[in-house]
Amino acid sequence: MTDPAARDWLRWPHEPDRARFGYGADYNPEQWPREVWEEDLRLMRRAGVNIVTLGVFSWSRLQPGPDTWDFGWLDEIMDRLHENGIAVDLATATASPPAWLTTAHPEVLPVTRTGETVWPGARQHWRPTSPVFRRYALALTTALAERYGGHPSLAAWHVSNELGCHNAHDYSDDAAAAFRAWLRGRYATIDGLNHAWATDFWSQRYTDWDQVLPPRLAASHVNPTQQLDFARFSSDALRDHLRAEREILRRHTPDIPVTTNFMVMGHVQEMNYADWAHEVDFVSNDHYVRPDPTGADELSFSANLTGGLARGRPWYLMEHSTSAVNWRAVNPPKAPGELARDSLLHVAHGADAVCYFQWRQSAAGAEKYHSAMVPHAGSDSRVFRDVAELGRVLAEDLAEVAGTRRSPARAALVFDWESRWAVRRDSLPSSLLNVHTEALDWYTAFLDLGVRVDVVPTDADWEEYDLVVAPLLHLLPGATARRLDDYVAGGGHLVTTYFSGIVDENDHVHLGGYPGPLRDLLGLSIEEFAPLPEGARVTLDDGATGTLWSDRITVTSPETEVLTRYADGPLAGGAASTRRAVPGGGSAAYVSTRLDDEHRVALLRRLTREAGVDSELPEDLRGRVEATVRAGEDAAYLFLTNRTDEPVKLDELSGTPLTGADVTGEEAPVLRPRGTTVLRVPVADVAR
Ligand code: GAL
Repeated sequence: MTDPAARDWLRWPHEPDRARFGYGADYNPEQWPREVWEEDLRLMRRAGVNIVTLGVFSWSRLQPGPDTWDFGWLDEIMDRLHENGIAVDLATATASPPAWLTTAHPEVLPVTRTGETVWPGARQHWRPTSPVFRRYALALTTALAERYGGHPSLAAWHVSNELGCHNAHDYSDDAAAAFRAWLRGRYATIDGLNHAWATDFWSQRYTDWDQVLPPRLAASHVNPTQQLDFARFSSDALRDHLRAEREILRRHTPDIPVTTNFMVMGHVQEMNYADWAHEVDFVSNDHYVRPDPTGADELSFSANLTGGLARGRPWYLMEHSTSAVNWRAVNPPKAPGELARDSLLHVAHGADAVCYFQWRQSAAGAEKYHSAMVPHAGSDSRVFRDVAELGRVLAEDLAEVAGTRRSPARAALVFDWESRWAVRRDSLPSSLLNVHTEALDWYTAFLDLGVRVDVVPTDADWEEYDLVVAPLLHLLPGATARRLDDYVAGGGHLVTTYFSGIVDENDHVHLGGYPGPLRDLLGLSIEEFAPLPEGARVTLDDGATGTLWSDRITVTSPETEVLTRYADGPLAGGAASTRRAVPGGGSAAYVSTRLDDEHRVALLRRLTREAGVDSELPEDLRGRVEATVRAGEDAAYLFLTNRTDEPVKLDELSGTPLTGADVTGEEAPVLRPRGTTVLRVPVADVAR
């Protein structure tokens, strides 16, 4: 039996014992003639590429018919890559089924909520619950594992691609059957299901499992628990596919790690990655930065959460872009400096591989206007020069940083997948709520204060942090509520917001006043929600404005201090934010509205101070730069990212700049606009 730790990270074929950053891209040589392959290899060496992902969309080439295989081209390129010192993250190629398969077996195609078939013509047109699809996909996985399991270039297996990107929800009859089996596993009896789904409402009572369906198009609001369970089931169905391929790979190559690329903050938010993170040998993520002034903060949030999912272990940025994408309404290129900043921000949060979609920009097809490491213009281009420079920075300037781990912060931001699902459904007090946006706002407030924070999933060990912010923690099972109680009783400082602690895991309201299990902890009770219409605002007595939500709060504990009150509107005079200091030193704060940015920062400043959590940055850098820390045994590394368009002078910071800062004589190093620098500092300076 192999030690699972042996699969923690890439098996580097060349110099296996040396830590280094992975650098590369999705490589699709099947789109190009042989003469281009040789140029590819030459340019990869020039750019410092040391790993590529091969075969992601190669099924129709590898298996041109049910009983015919063509591995010749893949054999050749695997060998040539190895000869050039480049490792391979080999995809199982099952992401997009070939035409012969979907023609012979149209029953593998997904069906939408409204009953339409999702036809071939794009990609990922398969249902995770189709036994036929599973059989063919596993046959291909097996063929690849048998053929390439012993290939010297193999560094990792890459299951499918962005599982669920286009087929997250399937409402077919296969899905219906699998959903019933999943529900039987969860509830055991039909009465258990009737209770959980509260089917006495609207005469929905079931007497037989065969009557139960996925939440297909219906006359009005579909049962909310049915919707929630379908979201859980759909995530699990794709996870089962991941497991099925992974088991074959592990059987053939117990020493080669298996991963699949997540879309942690992508436009598809259907996979519960907090759960999936336990299924892969190392976490991989894809991220595409928003082309707006807040893009870098959102990137940082995504990278931070990916680090949280990886639980301190190295992770792999499987895809990002060198410049423009092709799938927004308008797709501007990245500004000078952004290519390096975007990559290094992921490294700052613990990524030990930074890769792109894709190596060479396609000349044809749906993604021909998506940037790549080698653009249409060729290697004599700004993008390629920036790509090669970043390859050099990773291999030379930052060589000693590879293999170090992200150092924990003292504050945590809890991100809850099931609340994210529950809050975006219909039939709620407001359809304007968004867990991602609220969490990102709090994250940005931490960045504005210059206070480091770790974004972590709900099942992480956030009890180790001095301060925990858990915004919109709407779905609160009893066990999590007890964890919060214990955390605060043990001296922890908790901050939560509106519409948190409202329902249990079955989406049943905790009765007796909101927020049921948090009432005693917060020392307050709410009789009625008062959501605000789009565009409406309330004013608070410290001048803050609140949007989206407000609550009529009754303070129930003498320990609860009212921090701010509503100053106008029907709730004028009532508490808007509170903090209960509990015996033992802990506290629990509540914020009942969506605060404007300035006052969210002001409130967080107060709450961090009261929790004893300070910025580690000199005063004048706070908010202007983002700081993260990676630490090894001999040295630690302070990553500083300029959040402004101005140069930032790094006064009062000691440490040796390794990259990204301009140093003139005795002057303090200067961080370039939108740049990232890395300072080597003694471990003792950053020890928690
Ligand atoms: C990802 C996908 C890649 C490519 C990329 C373009 O979602 O995995 O294959 O399509 O987006 O941004």
